[in-house]
Formats: sequence, C-alpha cells, structure tokens
Amino acid sequence: MKGSRSGRLAAWLALFAVPVSARAAVPGLKAGAQDDPPWIARGKFGMVASDSADASRIGARVLEEGGNAFDAAVATSFALGVTRPYSTGIGGGGFMVAYLAKEKRFIVLDFRETAPSGATAERYAELRAEQGDGPSPSVYGGNAAATPGLLAGLEEIRKRFGTKQLEELLAGPITLALTGFEADENYAAACRDALAAYEKWPQLKMRHAALRRELLGAGKPPAVGERIKRHDLVQTFILIARDGIQTVYGDVIGKAMAEAAQKAGGTLTVDDLKAYRVKEREPIRTTFLGHEIVSMPPPSSGGICIVETLNILEHLPSAVRSQTESSAGSGPDADALKRHLLIEALKHAFADRARWLGDADFVDVPIGRLTDPEYAAVLAARIAPDKTTAPETYGSRQLPDDGGTSHFCVADAEGNVVAITETINGTFGSLIMVEPYGIILNNEMDDFATAPGEKNLYGLIQGQANAVAPGKRPLSSMSPTIVMKDGKPVLTLGASGGPRIITHVLQVLLSVVRDNQPLEQAIAAPRLHHQWMPDEVYFDAAPPAWAKGLEALGHKLSEQRREAIVQAIRFLPDGTMVGASDPRKGGRPAAANAR
Ligand code: DON
Repeated sequence: MKGSRSGRLAAWLALFAVPVSARAAVPGLKAGAQDDPPWIARGKFGMVASDSADASRIGARVLEEGGNAFDAAVATSFALGVTRPYSTGIGGGGFMVAYLAKEKRFIVLDFRETAPSGATAERYAELRAEQGDGPSPSVYGGNAAATPGLLAGLEEIRKRFGTKQLEELLAGPITLALTGFEADENYAAACRDALAAYEKWPQLKMRHAALRRELLGAGKPPAVGERIKRHDLVQTFILIARDGIQTVYGDVIGKAMAEAAQKAGGTLTVDDLKAYRVKEREPIRTTFLGHEIVSMPPPSSGGICIVETLNILEHLPSAVRSQTESSAGSGPDADALKRHLLIEALKHAFADRARWLGDADFVDVPIGRLTDPEYAAVLAARIAPDKTTAPETYGSRQLPDDGGTSHFCVADAEGNVVAITETINGTFGSLIMVEPYGIILNNEMDDFATAPGEKNLYGLIQGQANAVAPGKRPLSSMSPTIVMKDGKPVLTLGASGGPRIITHVLQVLLSVVRDNQPLEQAIAAPRLHHQWMPDEVYFDAAPPAWAKGLEALGHKLSEQRREAIVQAIRFLPDGTMVGASDPRKGGRPAAANAR
C-alpha cells in the first residue's frame, strides 16, 4: 500500500543519512590487505566489484544489512545509474548470469532492449540513405533508442531471488543522488567525449539540449572533484519506490520517455514499453582445463564467442600451457605464440559471430554446432602456428543444419553469485535525456546491422541474422560469466567495451584459470583485441615485448589503443573473496564487513 510504502521508505532513507564517501573513511571498514592496490578488496562476508566506488559500497551495505547477492545487485545497479550515467541507467538494458547456491543451479535473465514496433529494417535503410555526412541515426537521437529493459530486469531479480522491498534497495541510491558524489577522471572524460560529438555536429546542440545543459555544464564539463547531485533521479527513484516499475512502463514516466524519443525523430511508444518482457534463457556452457564455464546466450554473442574460442584453444597444446608449467611456456617467443593462437581462435569466433549470430527468437542460431568441441577441433586444425592468414579463411560459411556498459559482480556469504552487465551502448546513449526524470535513452539500435556490410560504432560488420525487425533484440557482446570448479564458483567476471568485452573477459579468464595468476595481476596486465574484421590486433596500452613476435607471424598491429573494463571476483580455497575493479576506469570493489 502506498502509505506504508512511503513510511518504510522514510525509515530506510534515514539509515543512509551518512554520505557514502564519508562512510568509506570509518576506521575498521577497510578490507583490503596492506599491500593491495586500492582497486582490490578482500573479505569473507560478501563482495561487490563495480566500476564505481560509491555503487560498490552501497551494494556491500545491503549485504551487511542482511540482503543477499540479488538484493545487493539491484541496489548497486541503481547507484551505477547515478555515478556512471554515461554507461548505464534505467534508459538501457542488460543481462544477468547468476548462481543460486541453495538450489545449485544457474539463472540467466535477458533484460536487453528491444527494437520498437515501428523500427523496421527498411526504415533504417532509408534513414541511412538520408544521413549523408550527418550523425548516424542509430547512434544519436530517437531512432538510436530501443525499448529499455533494465528496470524490468532489476524488478524481476528482486521479486524472484531477493529478500528486500524495492524502496529499501532504492534508499542508498536516492541518498547518493541527493547528497551527490565527486566526479572522477573517468566521469570528466566521458563528459568531454560527449561534448566533442556536439562540437562535431552542431545540430545536436538543439536536438539534445537537455543532456548538454543538465549533465555537460552547457559546454563547460564538470571538473574532477566537482560534486554532482541528481535531483531529477531522486524524484524518479522515489516515484518508482512509491508506485512500482509500472510508472516507467506505463503512462507517467513511460509517456515522457516515448515523447522524448518521438520528439527526437524516433518511433518509441508507451505500448512498446507496456509490451516489454524480461526473458529467462539457458546459459551457454563448456568445460575448460577442468573448469566449468557458464556464460550468456543470444541475444548476446558473448557466451558463444568465449566458448568457441576456449574450445579451439583446448585443441592447441601450446595455447593452454600455463606460464608457470615449464620454461617452454615462458619467454617472448612462447608468449607471442600463445597470443598468436588466441588471436587466430578469436578470428574464427568473430567471423562466425558476423555470419551466424542474432536474436535466437527471430533467426536460427546454430548454438549447438558453434559451441561443439568437435567443430572447434576442425577450426583448430586450420590454425597454423607460424603465420596468420586472410580474413576469408576464418569461421564457416556453411554449417550443418543440426545446430544458428557497466559490468559488476556480487557474491554473498551464502554462496550466491551474480554477474550483471548493463548498457546504454555508446557514451550517454542516444543523447536523449527524458525530462524531468533524468533518464538517458540508450542507442542500442546501433548494435543491429542497420546497414548490412557497413561498420557500426564498434567497427563490427554484421550479417543478416542481426538485421533490424520490430520486437527483435540487437546482438550484444556482453558476457557476464561464472567459472566453477568441482561444483563451486572459483571466478566471476564480465566487462564493458563493446566487442572487446569478449576478448578481455577471455584474457583475464585465461590468466586466472590457465596461468593461475593472482587476480590483481591478471586484471592489470596489458590486453589485446582482435575481432576478425578489421584484420588488426589492437592493444590497450603500449604493446608488450611479445608483440614483436606477432608481427613476425604476419599479424598487423594497430596504432590505435582500444580498452575494455573488467570487473571480477575470485573465490580462494580458504573462503576469501578477492574483488577487483579494473584500474582503467577508476572503480573500486567493496567487501561486506559483517552480516
Ligand atoms: O551490448 C553490447 O555489446 C554493447 N551495447 C556494449 C557497449 C559497451 O560495452 C560500451 N563500451 N564501450
């Protein structure tokens, strides 16, 4: 009932009256080992690893108050919408892969955005033809925004697996939005990035004035250390706490969302929002070096690409030899060979991604065949240890008929594990800000192949399987993943960074599972990326010594640097959980200090 709901909300808000940043300084709350860097935390009562210190702390606080990993995940997600509005929020969508300890089973939820009913392939072909030199219609504006699914996903998680009321989980995020948080370098850089787009296409200043005015300082972006308050989100969160999520999937906030998208040229309607449904899916699984890998199925390509790559690597002894195993496993030549084999396996997986993958509710995705170890053996046999070959030699054109960004992870003391990757796609999504609610609409339509054969925002060239159709979900790379050994979780991880999510999740997974590297080392090490086309190897920092060896094998090394941001929790045999937030984005994990 409304009255008692707001009463409970007031009581919960009082609990969170201490600003989050002040609470982190309370003596005794520090959980990291003495010599750990600040982006590592250790604890035995629970852990949240996200790309925002404030959001991790809010999630850990929910665990300390007796909530489980699902409760903490919901609170963390709302808080991320406050501190990382350019990465996620209820104008976007996401995926969850979770392990339910008591029932010893996995749950996979798909709350990915869907194409609105008016979004047809023909419409995008016409829009592309009209675009000329102007901004891409699937990247900026009303035609970029797909029907959001994040809030529906969070509510489904809470109702089915959580133990708390929505208003309890919103209390921390509301206080954070009210009292504010300090802009960090990552926040300031995202604002500068978005302003660069406004400078490049001055017409965006008129069309997307709200975002520019409210979050980008009307051209003077916030400085590092500046306090950011979000009164618009406070109001939105209070409405959601009071009236439930139908305020967003109905005639109040939903109407404002549809109007904002339509004013910006799009087709989103309140009926699209009312028709939105979360879908439960079966995970993609494989075994790798004695571990069980559990990841995201379509409409993500993440699980299939990760599993296809790992299956290929298992057929290549030099690729799976641990660095510590023998002297033959280390040194620049062995390091280059191992990376060469990884790149070759990735080129097969990404070639198949381009040809075969899309929303499996709309097209036949040969999942069984692509994740079959025997198929991997065929591809592995085509990999030469001493050279790389032309793009058309990767993946399969013909398959038999038998088979077709903010990440965070939470673990609780009961053994539940939650891995969620959520997205609005590009920085600040479509640039549409729904006033006065502070919701930023995604530009997930660009994850479709809106112009087959042409590159999208992430340079991906994609096939017919991922063409636009009303109600269809765009193909994603998001890869929330859990790794099990002997029936127990040993690692959970995921990333943000478009197609680089797949390659960077894989490399951290390999460093931990194959090389037994400490997580703190694995997450900080330089990483590479290859997505089949363009036929180049990208690094996220200056290429390491072994990169020379890749050139000798015929790989073209890109001059451009491309990052992805990984969050992970490793479970040590003594019960310690090690949380790691990628130092590249400035996130911090938070350990629960008690329960
Ligand atoms: O679902 C996907 O694959 C993309 N929308 C993810 C975008 C992303 O990670 C943003 N980071 N650069």
